[in-house]
Amino acid sequence: MIKDQKVIFSGIQPSGRITLGNYLGAVKNWAPLQEEGLCLYCVADLHAITVRQNPAELRQRSLTLYAQLLASGIDPEKSILFIQSHVAEHAELAWILNCYTMFGELSRMTQFKDKSAKNADNINCGLFAYPALMAADILLYQTDLVPVGVDQKQHVELTRDIAGRFNGLYSETFTVPEPLMQKSGAKIMSLSDPTKKMSKSDPNPKSYVLLMDSPDEIMRKFKSAVTDSESTVRRGEGRDGIGNLITIYSVAAGKTPEEVEAEFEGRGYGDFKKAVGEATVELLRPVRERTEELLKNKDYLEESYKAGAEKAARLAVRTLDKVKRKVGFAGKIR
Ligand code: TYM
Repeated sequence: MIKDQKVIFSGIQPSGRITLGNYLGAVKNWAPLQEEGLCLYCVADLHAITVRQNPAELRQRSLTLYAQLLASGIDPEKSILFIQSHVAEHAELAWILNCYTMFGELSRMTQFKDKSAKNADNINCGLFAYPALMAADILLYQTDLVPVGVDQKQHVELTRDIAGRFNGLYSETFTVPEPLMQKSGAKIMSLSDPTKKMSKSDPNPKSYVLLMDSPDEIMRKFKSAVTDSESTVRRGEGRDGIGNLITIYSVAAGKTPEEVEAEFEGRGYGDFKKAVGEATVELLRPVRERTEELLKNKDYLEESYKAGAEKAARLAVRTLDKVKRKVGFAGKIR
């Protein structure tokens, strides 16, 4: 594909409701990137079924997530915003890339190890091969940059290896992408156990703040956030809880962590937690309100995701056709 601008791609799974971690680590940064190049963002529903989902809930969560991405500032006129399963080329390229991804590589993925420990009764092939699907998502569009949180970096690195291997075997086919991570906020921790990342699939609702939580809920969750037995608002060894709250406040209020520490010098945890809660409420309020409005307009959502899928497919087939030719599939059907 001849490109006159940078291509930026990312996705998010509708495997739970979107959290403050997803927002600060990834989604919040997606809209500003629209000024940097062609952005493609998808609701990664093919990824979500690697873990059992209730079909009615999955359907609802995918639409809500689509509306939340629009509400977070992704402009469907500027960017390509779509639902992954609507663009069949993702699954098709994933199959091909499975054949260029090694068992050993997939076995080393830390997310596979974590998820298979949590879903011991359902360690399916999709869960294992998930990074090859993610590589297909990225490589289909000749992506240059992949904005993600820290936990997805390993998958982007594997994507680079798969692209390099394929290019080496068949000549230049894929752009080799780079991960793009925020300096601050790329790993938001759980509020109930700050040694673990905040996750939408955590069974404890006190561990995360959701984008759609009411202001009262947000304030309550920060009030009960686990900290430590000290009382100074400072980062430090073994101070994961307070460090996490400092990160959240600094990103939400647009301050550096040093400025936050100076602002709360000599003040206690109670005051600080209230300030973190209030800053988060104000950060999320416009996104929540706009999502609620969008969800009332199902026709607009449908029109938008259909148009997004059409635009994505037009680009995706170009790469897929090239790949099919290179691996030696016979004939020409388009
Ligand atoms: P997912 O749905 O788990 O998360 C979506 C994005 O949120 C980031 N994230 C976090 N950032 C900071 N702190 C946290 N606690 C936190 N939790 C999650 C993730 O790093 C991610 O950027 N496989 C991907 C979705 C995907 C994708 C892609 C991403 C599918 N295809 C292609 C990039 C490119 C996933 O499960 O993300």
